[in-house]
Amino acid sequence: MSVAARIAGVGSSLPSRVVSNDELATTVDTSDAWVVSRTGIRTRRFAGDADTTSSLAITAAIEALESAEMAATDVDLTIVATVTGDQPMPSTAAFVQAGVGAGGAAFDVAAACAGFVYGLDLAAAQIETGRVTSALVVGAEVLSRFLDFEDRSTCVLFGDGAGAVVLRPGDEPGVMRSTLAADGRAAALLQIPGGGSREPTSAGSISRGEHVIHMRDGREVFKRAVTAMAEAAERVLESQGLRPEDVTLVVPHQANERIIRAVASRLGATDGRVFVDLEHVGNTSAASVPIALDRAWRSGRLAAGDLVLTLAFGAGLAWGANLIRWTAPAPGAAA
Ligand code: ACO
Repeated sequence: MSVAARIAGVGSSLPSRVVSNDELATTVDTSDAWVVSRTGIRTRRFAGDADTTSSLAITAAIEALESAEMAATDVDLTIVATVTGDQPMPSTAAFVQAGVGAGGAAFDVAAACAGFVYGLDLAAAQIETGRVTSALVVGAEVLSRFLDFEDRSTCVLFGDGAGAVVLRPGDEPGVMRSTLAADGRAAALLQIPGGGSREPTSAGSISRGEHVIHMRDGREVFKRAVTAMAEAAERVLESQGLRPEDVTLVVPHQANERIIRAVASRLGATDGRVFVDLEHVGNTSAASVPIALDRAWRSGRLAAGDLVLTLAFGAGLAWGANLIRWTAPAPGAAA
């Protein structure tokens, strides 16, 4: 019998500091009205001094393990999707593995906002092929430490947080199918240029502002995000002989409400079948999809048996989709 990868547990963690558009507007040339009308974001969370990407990831991972009623020692693969890791070396996944007490392998995935969708596909394949028997897949970011608060077109978009799922083997899928894609020719649209081997950290790189997020053309990113996520949705559904109307809930990357509405419209998905949760979270990059999955599940928008479609797009450019038959039992129910 073939083995499938099923979601056994889910969790998330947001830092406690709430930052409103009005608070940003005290130092940035912006307004609550502009940010709400262009993005749908009203507040976001920023990490406190003691928070790191791994500390948020560990809290989310522990919550996911608790919801799966599983011991951390049973985890034999930890994948952390992030572009704001604790350090360049080692991986943030190494800190998360140690922090939760997991065993086996641990590594990071760097596919920006699409990182969790990539990581879920990698972990599902490891379970389907029998290489591992349980995996922790986390998306975690502390983007607030990589924002240019003099660039009003980017600093209002992002927030910090982490989300996690636990994958286990099952008879029925599970993570049914994913599609992943990238277009590195457009890498310059969205990047943190400094801090790597191309532009090592130096007094010059710091004074030129190369260690923060640069977005070259927000409108172009917007258009490409809509096209890429809609096409990824169609591709992954077609691969299973399914249509958009078969999906119970679309859980898209929470970057911008207008992007989500445009994708939903292309798919013909009504409001009730699209999860929009960015108003008080903002764009948390790789953490966005797993935070949304957790909040959808805990608020009763996701139930066992539902067909879920995740969609993500971000720097790389990288994008993708996971088609999931939801298998986590209702919150509080026995696994
Ligand atoms: N407050 C007030 N005014 C602003 C702000 C701000 N925070 N930011 C930009 N503006 C101004 C611009 O300077 C411009 O002024 P001008 O006309 O005098 O030159 C005006 O608003 C219009 O700017 P546009 O860029 O045309 O505004 P647009 O409607 O495209 O919205 C936005 C900008 C929100 C960035 C949009 O393009 C967008 O969401 N793009 C996608 C970007 C994104 O989500 N990136 C995240 C990473 S990728 C991902 O996660 C999908």
